[in-house]
Amino acid sequence: MAVLPLTVTPLPCPSGSDIDFGAEIRGVDLENLNDEQFQMIRKALYDHHVVVFKDQKGLSPKAQYELTKRFDPASEDYGHGKTIDTKRSILHPDLKTVPHQPQVQVIGNGQVQSYEGLKDIQLRHPHHRTFHHDHIPDDKDYDFTRFYRWHIDAALYDLYPPQVTTLLAVKVPKGRRQTLLYDDGTGETLDVPLGTTAFVSGERMYELLSPEDKEFVRTSKIEYAPHPYIWMSAARSRSTGLGLHSEGLELPDSDLPPIDPSKIMVFPMTWKNPVTGKLALQIHPSAILRIHCADGTTIDDLARVRDIVYNLQRPAISPQYVYPHDWVEDDLVLFNNRGVLHSVVGAFKPDEVRLFRQCNLAASEPPVGP
Ligand SMILES: [Fe+2]
Repeated sequence: MAVLPLTVTPLPCPSGSDIDFGAEIRGVDLENLNDEQFQMIRKALYDHHVVVFKDQKGLSPKAQYELTKRFDPASEDYGHGKTIDTKRSILHPDLKTVPHQPQVQVIGNGQVQSYEGLKDIQLRHPHHRTFHHDHIPDDKDYDFTRFYRWHIDAALYDLYPPQVTTLLAVKVPKGRRQTLLYDDGTGETLDVPLGTTAFVSGERMYELLSPEDKEFVRTSKIEYAPHPYIWMSAARSRSTGLGLHSEGLELPDSDLPPIDPSKIMVFPMTWKNPVTGKLALQIHPSAILRIHCADGTTIDDLARVRDIVYNLQRPAISPQYVYPHDWVEDDLVLFNNRGVLHSVVGAFKPDEVRLFRQCNLAASEPPVGP
């Protein structure tokens, strides 16, 4: 079979933006990917972090899974494993599993009669009202929005963070834009397409730090709460979606499923890009519990841990560093889950039907630090 002319084109940087990541790949059939093409995609991914393939109508869940798995051939199961089965996880309502390809999840908004073996499913786009401490008033809800939750796709207990995530836009409501409010006293806002997925670069997040902070994040580790999505279920987010307020609302260990200490995750704060060797500051701010410092001490006070991490991460989510992807139906976005943070954005009306397919796989190896 003839090799297609595969091209990689960096995404245009809109005026007022300072993003330095993102690319579009053309000229490849994802149902029939050869090794040479995959290696070009892999190089593009680790150079650009967010890669867009247009016009992927009809891409099978199997091909989506296989592309995702190719980044980590020893991985097999969905990134959250079975952890979302529990009704108390805050992730539970947002995901429906494709019956014939259980590593692929359907997410979105509204009522869908039939899709890939799923019948009469009710999808619910996460709304900041369910997660944030303070809400945008209902009468402004369709004009203004927030970052819902900045995160890495990862169970953060028992399972290693997936290498990559793929997101396919099957159905996208059109037409509206919203103004995203930071509401943190800075006055910062961002004009976004309805239901965008927002990305920021972990490498930029690291580069923006002072030399002292760079040294701190290179030498410190972060410990995640066991069963983090149940643990945090009663806590409430900051208005920027970047971590939680500290009000003592996290569930005590006695209210969590049994905790196996060997499954608790402690990761470096910075993760090394496997192709370029660059460091990315990669912390899931809502799930953090404790900082392990270079001198062997730990910072255990949760409010302090959150404030430290917030101050490290906040500069890099300012509007000029955010890439809000403007979804068009049949876009497939592949992103470096170990090199970016991302957030759901937006508030849909009940009749605005959105249908997406997501795939990521719990990695076979932990992230590599400096
Ligand atoms: Fe995600």
